[in-house]
Amino acid sequence: MTARSEIRIEPISAGHIEGFHKALDTVAREREYLSLLEAFPLEETRAFVFGMIKGGNPQFVALADGKVVGWCDISRHAFPSHAHTGRLGMGIIPAYRGQGVGRRLIDATLRASRDVGIERVELSVHADNSRAIALYEKVGFVREGLARKSFHIDGRYKDAIHMAFFHE
Ligand SMILES: CC(C)(COP(=O)(O)OP(=O)(O)OC[C@H]1O[C@@H](n2cnc3c(N)ncnc32)[C@H](O)[C@@H]1OP(=O)(O)O)[C@@H](O)C(=O)NCCC(=O)NCCS
Repeated sequence: MTARSEIRIEPISAGHIEGFHKALDTVAREREYLSLLEAFPLEETRAFVFGMIKGGNPQFVALADGKVVGWCDISRHAFPSHAHTGRLGMGIIPAYRGQGVGRRLIDATLRASRDVGIERVELSVHADNSRAIALYEKVGFVREGLARKSFHIDGRYKDAIHMAFFHE
């Protein structure tokens, strides 16, 4: 496995799109952590990423030997009355979890969100995802509420915790 120090965190660019699509698809197909159960088709993913870049929305990837092993993005809300708010999503492929990559990704993405004037960052996380919740609380997210039986897959229900972070 690649050592942590060799993992680079970079803003996403066109050359990362296929790798991002693959990483997203891998995490989605675990059917455990994301609402998405598979990635959207590559062309839709490409359009999404170009939209993120064009719109100035922060999106970072973690690269191990040039391969995308994780991502973190914050999408600004489309309505003007909520435009101070962005929604965070992130994931790391299984072999690279628990090595501090998530912390580095979220730190970079939160910093960039401040730079583009996003004041409030929100997210939803499955209530049993203790690793993600620990990471979010460590960087300053607070719990705002519980959505009961929010997720339903393969006959299982899961609650979701809504969390938010404010730039000072
Ligand atoms: C959640 C996720 C992004 C976290 O990233 P990561 O690189 O695995 O996490 P890190 O190594 O940066 O650890 C962050 C903190 O989580 C905590 N943590 C790590 N492993 C943990 C575990 N197994 N259980 C509970 N907490 C854990 C630690 O407190 C750690 O902080 P520390 O290094 O200061 O001790 C990553 O595990 C992942 O992609 N999981 C699957 C997809 C997912 O859950 N996405 C988020 C959906 S809301």
